[in-house]
Amino acid sequence: MVKKLSGVWITGGSSGIGKAAAKEFARTGSRVFVSARRTRELEKLNEEIGKEKLSVTCFPCNVGSSANVEQTIKKIFAIQPVDCLINNAGITSFKAAEDNSINEINDIILTNLLGSIYTIKFLLPYFIKQGKGTIINIISSAADKIFTNSSAYTASKTGLMGYANVLREEVRKYNIKVINILPGATETAMWPSEVRKANSEKMMTAEEIARLLVWVYLQEGNMIPEEIRIKPIQGDL
Ligand SMILES: NC(=O)c1ccc[n+]([C@@H]2O[C@H](COP(=O)([O-])OP(=O)(O)OC[C@H]3O[C@@H](n4cnc5c(N)ncnc54)[C@H](OP(=O)(O)O)[C@@H]3O)[C@@H](O)[C@H]2O)c1
Repeated sequence: MVKKLSGVWITGGSSGIGKAAAKEFARTGSRVFVSARRTRELEKLNEEIGKEKLSVTCFPCNVGSSANVEQTIKKIFAIQPVDCLINNAGITSFKAAEDNSINEINDIILTNLLGSIYTIKFLLPYFIKQGKGTIINIISSAADKIFTNSSAYTASKTGLMGYANVLREEVRKYNIKVINILPGATETAMWPSEVRKANSEKMMTAEEIARLLVWVYLQEGNMIPEEIRIKPIQGDL
């Protein structure tokens, strides 16, 4: 069955996985809405994809602000309904629990956990009304394997995974799919540059993850890949 393409909203689309996903979704012919805080980076995304005669619609949005999320969703739906959310915006700190400041902990939980819950909360009424929707959460391998120097990050990701697992059961009746993706090490700006330099050969690329996300979105019919674990072929770093 061929999926009728609609609109997709990607958070954290100014770099890394979100940016690669924005490009890959645009290539399918979907209407793509992209958010992040850095406006200039969002403009660059359109300059790059413009070379392929494609474009995406960018709305700056800090997912840590529920008001900002609500406004952004209103702006998107005023243009076109979307039927897919990619909850991708995320940050980390690579510090031991004892070294993380309260501000760092707050920022990680606010962005990764609460930010993703805000986007879901404000999109749900639209998805319920239209009788369909796909929510794809970018979790992390850290949600099911222990990595040191990632306590707040792991708390945010396992928290989101738990939220999504409950949500999935509640929204099946509305034909809404909730999908958790658990990627391992992917070469993006999230990693310190020395780690990227030393390990780039062993890491997955943002483009590989983006292609998977498009595949997941395009699946039609009665199947939901509820949880997908993806790792570099050589395993974790
Ligand atoms: N790289 C990996 O190995 C890996 C593995 C597993 C999971 N992940 C997850 O993948 C997702 C994407 O990360 P990435 O690796 O692509 O890193 P990245 O290149 O650093 O991208 C992170 C994105 O999140 C956005 N963002 C951060 N805080 C935000 C906020 N408050 N509001 C809106 N957008 C915000 C950033 O944009 P602005 O700064 O412009 O706002 C940026 O576009 C994250 O959720 C991360 O946890 C990554």
